[in-house]
Amino acid sequence: MSGPRNGPNRLQPYLRNRLCDRVRTGTRHAVDGFHIVGGETLRGTVRISGAKNAALPILCASLLADGEHVFRNVPQLRDVDTTIALLRHLGQQVAREGSVVRVRGQPARSVEAPYELVKQMRASVLVLGPLVGRYGEARVSLPGGCAIGARPIDQHLAGLQAMGAEVRLEHGYVHVRVPGGRLRGADFRCQIPTVTGTENLMCAAALAAGRSTIANAAREPEVEELARVLNKMGARIEGAGTDTITVHGVEALHPVDHAIIADRIEAGTFMVAAAVTGGDVLLEGVTFDHLEAVAERMRAAGVAIEREGSGVRVVGRPPYRPTDVVTEPYPGFPTDMQAQFMVLMCRARGRSAITETIFENRFMHVPELCRMGACIEIRGKTAWVSGESRLQGAEVMATDLRASASLVLAGLFAEGETVIRRVYHIDRGYERIEHKLAALGARIARVEGRA
Ligand code: EPZ
Repeated sequence: MSGPRNGPNRLQPYLRNRLCDRVRTGTRHAVDGFHIVGGETLRGTVRISGAKNAALPILCASLLADGEHVFRNVPQLRDVDTTIALLRHLGQQVAREGSVVRVRGQPARSVEAPYELVKQMRASVLVLGPLVGRYGEARVSLPGGCAIGARPIDQHLAGLQAMGAEVRLEHGYVHVRVPGGRLRGADFRCQIPTVTGTENLMCAAALAAGRSTIANAAREPEVEELARVLNKMGARIEGAGTDTITVHGVEALHPVDHAIIADRIEAGTFMVAAAVTGGDVLLEGVTFDHLEAVAERMRAAGVAIEREGSGVRVVGRPPYRPTDVVTEPYPGFPTDMQAQFMVLMCRARGRSAITETIFENRFMHVPELCRMGACIEIRGKTAWVSGESRLQGAEVMATDLRASASLVLAGLFAEGETVIRRVYHIDRGYERIEHKLAALGARIARVEGRA
């Protein structure tokens, strides 16, 4: 494995010691870290993996039909592993061969998504719609908040109630039951365009009796991809990708063979990696249309971004123009790219305003970036980033998926060595990121340690 010239095994003693982190409870757990030596320019080609946020709802949708489903271009991620564990818990047979996942759908052994799985990944709530739509019942542990916010599921539940479900909350679980066993079509307006809420309601409505409409629906490409898969399974869904989705319920669905779209957030992350290192990188396998808002802001900052064949070529020449961003539901600038863009603005000549409107606590990367020398001030929902400060390598802590990715990006151009601890956060949503970056010339290596 390529990595720091001194090699991960000959890390300075302080690094090796620091990476083993005995948590306060005194228990022991593996603590993988990344060791990065900044200053390399990224050049070459990187293949973008399948979209995490499409794979998760699509795998859960396999609960709607018995038989052999085949899903291709499924990224190898911790969140996918958790979803597979959940499907197995529910009685599905799941086999994985690289990026191909085969699910043998059969009548569920259980309709309960237990706390020990849901606490690992709030997206486990995505079994709610398929279970209620198929079996008229589900018991799902409430996901609870997470590092980036409270993230309730009230809209998921209100939509199911509109279709005739009864909802009870008790002992940390949401119990959903449909008198008579089958949902009936209904018209529902989401109070906010919730991504997984829209996905749950599409799955539930697919087998309901009659027609449903979901107004103020999320328009993300991953929602559109799920509708594409459901229609291949025999559902009748129109309008996915717009703010109004119509679902004509059918009696039954059949299994599907489908290759999942590329991950636009992984792509955006690598675009920023090319830009902050002044590199020249071709991203393969991406759908440029899904990156419009990100490309527009990066071009405004002065990054060269062009379609090239079936890919996207990114050429960076720092310093950049200070550029403001406000996160919005798709097709606006994605909240999942906010932390990464903030790192790009650390290489701008001037002040940029980064405003987060989707989640209430999605600036966890700021204190860690400031420890690396970034000049960032938070005022309410806006972080003001003053570029030109040289970042220095430091020992930092990953907190949530995208915040952790931003620390990797900062380490790529910081002076000296950066050690990022608890990178299991990154492994949730980025497939082999250290290998992909190293193949582009980055000096990065995974350093495993056990408390
Ligand atoms: C999805 O989360 C994504 N996860 C998130 O990606 C992404 O950040 C988010 O959409 C926004 O784009 C998956 O698709 C698995 P929401 P989701 O419901 O569906 C509030 C990543 O990094 N809300 O669209 O949970 C909620 O609190 C992850 O890959 C309600 O109030 O997000 C939030 O403030 C992080 N009531 C806002 O809406 C509800 O019933 C948007 O949430 C539902 C949501």
